[in-house]
Amino acid sequence: MNNSEMNIDGKAIQFPIFTGSENKKAMDISKLRAETGYVTLDYGLKNTAVTKSSITFLNGEEGILRYRGYPIEQLAEKATFLEVAYLLIYGELPTQTELDTFISGVTNHTLIHENMKKFFEGYPQHAHPMGVLASMTCALSSFYPESLDPSLNEKSVDQTILRLIAKTATIAAWSFKNSVGHPVMYPQNRLDFSANLLYMMFAKPTEEYVINDKVVSALNKLLILHADHEQNCSTFTTRVVGSSQASLYAAVSAGIMALWGPLHGGANQAVVEMLQKIYDDGGASKANIDKWILRFKDKDSGQRLMGFGHRVYKNFDPRATIIKKAADEVMEDLNVDDPLLDIAKQLEYAALNEDYFIERKLYPNVDYYSGLLYRAMGIPVDMFTVMFALGRLPGWIANWKEMVEEGQPITRPRQIYIGEKKRDFVPLEQR
Ligand code: ACO
Repeated sequence: MNNSEMNIDGKAIQFPIFTGSENKKAMDISKLRAETGYVTLDYGLKNTAVTKSSITFLNGEEGILRYRGYPIEQLAEKATFLEVAYLLIYGELPTQTELDTFISGVTNHTLIHENMKKFFEGYPQHAHPMGVLASMTCALSSFYPESLDPSLNEKSVDQTILRLIAKTATIAAWSFKNSVGHPVMYPQNRLDFSANLLYMMFAKPTEEYVINDKVVSALNKLLILHADHEQNCSTFTTRVVGSSQASLYAAVSAGIMALWGPLHGGANQAVVEMLQKIYDDGGASKANIDKWILRFKDKDSGQRLMGFGHRVYKNFDPRATIIKKAADEVMEDLNVDDPLLDIAKQLEYAALNEDYFIERKLYPNVDYYSGLLYRAMGIPVDMFTVMFALGRLPGWIANWKEMVEEGQPITRPRQIYIGEKKRDFVPLEQR
């Protein structure tokens, strides 16, 4: 470990340099405050590594994403979602026996407590399914109170992990059923994870549901592509909440809420809504696209080109490239002709050739095409971010587990106070 030297108030201070396995370097400032009285100020934590991690490697300049060392392109092509979930959570690709045990563990927990079914009746029909998913995920902890014990042993952690993966899928599908006023469909344990999710969302008791393998395969790919993305807003939130030793259910529920925002996972919904607006405003004509590009460049318009730009990627988001191809294939296979896809492609072409986006290194991110793919699969807009959450679940769990196993301290940053100096209380009648 090398040192870096900083001169603070005339005093030379040494900080160790830590180098990760892919040669990324960090200055370890853990002793900064103790030795100098200074803290760092870093809005949005743009320059701060909050942890060491061996789960996901991301190189935003070169557009590289790997889970536990395996390139995302290979995993999306060759693996199943539960195989990737196991990889992220336990660190290695499972053997056949390990995978079979993991799958049967998840499958055995797909039912949710019958009392939870009644909760759905309490939500208004138009409740956003992300709110329902977050609150119901937290509510799971009340059915498994042993999960509240911060000194959980490995066996009960594994049990909670299986329950979370299995039951959030059922909750997600049922929140959709609730929103359309249809009866819930119980999980079918003969189906694999993705097929079962589609079944619970789209099957009806009145007719036979035919599983479309191409849609199942596209969903499997989407879930894998979303499964982890190192220290993003929702994963960090999960770590922050977990660091207080709140239960895994509570930590994941907080992660779901963080994901909901349009600057994070909510962007997939925002993209489709934006494309629809552009379509209604004049379609894919060059004049209309140019008008909207001008709007996205104008800070006063308050409108961003949703699905473009990323805190870490300053190059193509590799997930966007895979999803764009999958969207083309699924639309062709299912004979879907979506005019919004045409708008998305024209808009992407225009933005990638526009100085504003080039100078700021703004490229399509994972959400730019994922919403269109969900749409082609028949998934309603409100459910896009829910699908993202189901995909991201293994990443949240893996990060929570890594943090707990490393015994990291509670996350509690500092601030620089800029408010009033001490002043005396003024009685109400004198104000
Ligand atoms: N459209 C127009 N301008 C943009 C966009 C965009 N989508 N994204 C960034 N910019 C501009 C900013 O206005 C800023 O310009 P300036 O330097 O002239 O002030 C510059 O590019 C840098 O933007 P920041 O917001 O500082 O970048 P940051 O890294 O903080 O934000 C973010 C990244 C939030 C993803 C941003 O690019 C954005 O809002 N994109 C649209 C929303 C979106 O697609 N979110 C999904 C991200 S992927 C995910 O979370 C799964």
